[in-house]
Amino acid sequence: GGGGTAPAPDPTHSPSPPVLRSQQWYGSGVAAGLRSFSHRARTRQLGYLPEEHLGKPVIAILNTWSDINPCHVHLRERAQAVKRGVWQAGGFPLEFPVSTLSETFQKPTPMLYRNLLSMETEELLRSYPVDGAVLLGGCDKSTPALLMGAASVDLPTVFVPAGPMLPGHWRGEVLGSGTDMWKYWDERRAGLIGDCDLAELESGLARSPGHCMTMGTASTLTAAAEVLGVTLPGASSIPAVDSAHDRMAAASGLRVVELVRRGRVLSQLLTPDAFQDAVTTVLGLGGSTNAVIHLVAMAARAGVRLTLDDFDRTARRVPVLADVRPGGSTHLMEDFHFAGGLPGFLTRIPDLLHLDRPTVAHDTLRDQLKPARVHNDDVIRTRDNPVAPEGGVAVLRGNLCPDGAVIKHIAADPRLLRHTGPAVVFDDYRTLRRTIDDPSLGITADHVLVLRGSGPLGGPGMPEYGMLPIPERLLKQGVRDMVRISDARMSGTSYGTCVLHVAPESHVGGPLALVRTGDMITLDVPARTLRLNVPDDELARRRTAWTPPPVRHERGYGALYAAHVTQADTGCDFDFLARPGAVPDPYAG
Ligand code: FES
Ligand code: MG
Repeated sequence: GGGGTAPAPDPTHSPSPPVLRSQQWYGSGVAAGLRSFSHRARTRQLGYLPEEHLGKPVIAILNTWSDINPCHVHLRERAQAVKRGVWQAGGFPLEFPVSTLSETFQKPTPMLYRNLLSMETEELLRSYPVDGAVLLGGCDKSTPALLMGAASVDLPTVFVPAGPMLPGHWRGEVLGSGTDMWKYWDERRAGLIGDCDLAELESGLARSPGHCMTMGTASTLTAAAEVLGVTLPGASSIPAVDSAHDRMAAASGLRVVELVRRGRVLSQLLTPDAFQDAVTTVLGLGGSTNAVIHLVAMAARAGVRLTLDDFDRTARRVPVLADVRPGGSTHLMEDFHFAGGLPGFLTRIPDLLHLDRPTVAHDTLRDQLKPARVHNDDVIRTRDNPVAPEGGVAVLRGNLCPDGAVIKHIAADPRLLRHTGPAVVFDDYRTLRRTIDDPSLGITADHVLVLRGSGPLGGPGMPEYGMLPIPERLLKQGVRDMVRISDARMSGTSYGTCVLHVAPESHVGGPLALVRTGDMITLDVPARTLRLNVPDDELARRRTAWTPPPVRHERGYGALYAAHVTQADTGCDFDFLARPGAVPDPYAG
């Protein structure tokens, strides 16, 4: 009315771009105050002209590059490619080095520090002038840590997965990281290969920058990130040293600026449907058991409740279609990539996905998958020829694990999936290492190896001790698998009949703390049960006699961790990070 000339609102146009958060820092004129004058002066000090940054979206590039992390050693260069993309799109990129979680080098386990990196991520993004974020990572816990922190801030965000390293090679054989390291270490212990062979293997196992190239924890979680919609399509399997990886990094920089303009924040992507699809995907990939813990924790940060039962229920209707080691028998991530990668894989299960949800690249996952194809049915199987008829993870219940335990049964010897045997108990990993080969323990292939003191608090950090070593004497007899039970985790590249994540853990008085050597234990994976065959009254007597172990960390980060970490079934996040609640705007202060 009123004879105005303003056009009617066009519903096909996105709303006008939101006022940039960074304007609070850089806004111009006297009205914006002394602080913005200082911020502009300090940006001149950084060497930038006003026209290079004023009014442009500030994109934080969070880089987990480090000299100590072979999985991320190429990310210093990749950050340059991201910057290229951001500049081309009219944004202003700023790189923030954040701590690195190297699965190989950090002890007792980077899991102890996942929540610390998530806090660093969250607080950096909140406390600096940031409008959007690009997260660079991929080695195991890096992916959940970065995404958990980013989800808690909820800015427009793109994840750049580090990409798998080149396949290993040794004497004409293709080697998978982790998986073949353990295999040949057992061969060495069994006396089948010598030290010279081992030295050659050292040079052949890991041949380039990039994360483990099996379907281990890294590949599983970057695939989860892709199906959640926070990477560009197909990004998660691009080999780390392929020039396509550089282009993907540049395209991610271009894209995040667009997301800022559209105001598309993480919470629009990280919905219950998206997490359900992530569960479906990691199970259909035959992925790492670690994904169970991380997805539960990631979902909670996005306000989505995911439980162990979601995994078990989904596993029963999702076949394993990716023939990638260690769940599959033959291929590695590069094969998976050239077979069509995750987009190709997802075209095999459209009926099991929520296709109407958005991603960083498309308005719907359906649109995103339109160009996707499978180019090799041996690597990405058809539905009528699966690697396994149901998903790779089973959730167990019973008096030994009242809050659940998990087993990657597709990586186990099928003969052991229903098994009763006497327990041999180790109170901690050090004791296990010292005594496992002691013949006086009389361990047979029918025994059930039990390790406790290795959970979120007992480990601490729930180290990947879960593939307990087979006694050397049995290895020499040809035994390659036994039933093993622990409150630890297991590397995504490990294998065997290993019951993991027993909750509650022994350190807090879970029933695992009450097991004694000689007790009979029954594992029944088809029935999803794990039972300690000891009468309840006897267990009650043992509980009365039990004393809690001493505190591990009397001070420092470890003490903070111990005071706040939750058990495996709820994701091992800190209680104060997982809960919803308000955080003040830092600029208001
Ligand atoms: Fe980094 Fe395996 S050691 S992904
Ligand atoms: Mg690993």
